[in-house]
Amino acid sequence: MGVTIVGAQLGDEGKGKFADIYSETADVIVRFQGGNNAGHTVVANGEEFKLHHVPSGVLRGGTGVIGNGCVVDPGVLLEELDGLEERGVDADVRIAERAHVIMPYHRVIDGVEEDAKGDMAAGTTGRGIGPTYEDKVGRRGVRVLDLLKPDALREKLEYVVPTKRALVEDVFGIEVNGTEHGEAFDVDAVHEEYVEYGERLRDDIVNASEYVNDRMDAGDAVLFEGAQGTSLDIDHGIYPYLTSSNTTVGGACTGAGVGATRLEETVGIMKAYLSRVGTGPLPTELENDVGDHLVEVGNEYGTTTGRRRRVGWFDLPMVRHAARLNDFTGGVLTSIDVLEGLDPVRVCEAYELDGETLDSMPADMDDWARCEPVYQEFDGWDGVDWDAVETYDDIPKEAREYVEYLEDEIGAPFYAVSVGPDREQTITRTDPFK
Ligand code: GDP
Ligand code: IMO
Ligand code: MG
Repeated sequence: MGVTIVGAQLGDEGKGKFADIYSETADVIVRFQGGNNAGHTVVANGEEFKLHHVPSGVLRGGTGVIGNGCVVDPGVLLEELDGLEERGVDADVRIAERAHVIMPYHRVIDGVEEDAKGDMAAGTTGRGIGPTYEDKVGRRGVRVLDLLKPDALREKLEYVVPTKRALVEDVFGIEVNGTEHGEAFDVDAVHEEYVEYGERLRDDIVNASEYVNDRMDAGDAVLFEGAQGTSLDIDHGIYPYLTSSNTTVGGACTGAGVGATRLEETVGIMKAYLSRVGTGPLPTELENDVGDHLVEVGNEYGTTTGRRRRVGWFDLPMVRHAARLNDFTGGVLTSIDVLEGLDPVRVCEAYELDGETLDSMPADMDDWARCEPVYQEFDGWDGVDWDAVETYDDIPKEAREYVEYLEDEIGAPFYAVSVGPDREQTITRTDPFK
């Protein structure tokens, strides 16, 4: 059976926590897009893990798969695996031979382009994600399987690296020789480093589609762990302030190599408010004491970059758009504990734009920037002992009204409500694997 979890907003909704929870059942956990721009947090018995490349589910002993739709920085992946081993986690991870490799020059170009783009910059994580996907689509990328073919890899680098150097030096006007970036454009140095990565990863490189489908045929439960969030999807999100992959459920088919009918459940993970790392408009943004409350109580600092996240009220037009795109069979609402102490609690139920009411987000970011949120207000809740919360009825009536309003508007039941970062701080109502 296949269950996909997808971020319903702008990333950091709590996907890591639920990938971990659902991998109590899942035997295989598959990342199908993105790379180490992701930062997925799991808190288990007070111990915190922050995962970037490695699927969160491996902490429970399942097999992690990095699918063909991902981009992989092998140095980062190996460091992450070593770090897990030091903490006693012997992660079993397979890497798709067809996944594309983030090269040193991709990281440099990511930074150089962000600096040059001005208002078009997305505030990327600087991990080289966009430039790697560009080379994939431009049919000049390095795939994981190339790391096992030193001669072919050299031939490719001899073509690609000078074009990248010319881009940086001649188009952006930045000299690389003699700087910290020099080695990123040195064919010999890059070749040596990446052939070595290939040697270290060799035994774990597989035809990932075949692997995942075979495991499903054998009756294993598979969790597809989305990264980023629906509004960061390259096709459906807030272009150009988004990431370079399909973060929506369709990405699981192409990025893992499984048929659509294998994905029985699609669970939208959403935070009870909104957070954002990066640039661009954000109609429900709170730059006041309510925002400070959400940042401090919710510890809203990026898992990957440590940046303070921007925050706002729950944006229903954004999540309605996500519910339609992914056809959520269920949702998970996280961090309702963070809203404690705010009164009233608001939800943006629609936008007003040029005298019209919109219940879904527009494609044009100039329009989105001009959208005025129309708010629905709810009574707040306070003084809750979240550690004592076990069942849904243990949370305050006001919080339940909020939860049920969102459920109605989104048109999918919440399978779980999360009341804190720890595995245990979870009210489970439905198990998507059953
Ligand atoms: P992901 O990228 O979707 O996996 O989310 P991140 O790990 O980047 O960010 C979510 C943050 O919220 C992490 O620090 C989690 O530990 C934390 N978190 C998850 N669920 C809850 C919750 O219900 N309440 C609170 N207070 N924190 C939560
Ligand atoms: P998880 O999986 C939140 C944002 C960046 C930037 C844009 C493009 O932890 O939810 P990129 O480096 O991908 O080219 O950056 O996307 N972004 C994320 N925001 N959570 C993430 O991942 C993100 N991954 C990328 O801030 O605006
Ligand atoms: Mg994150």
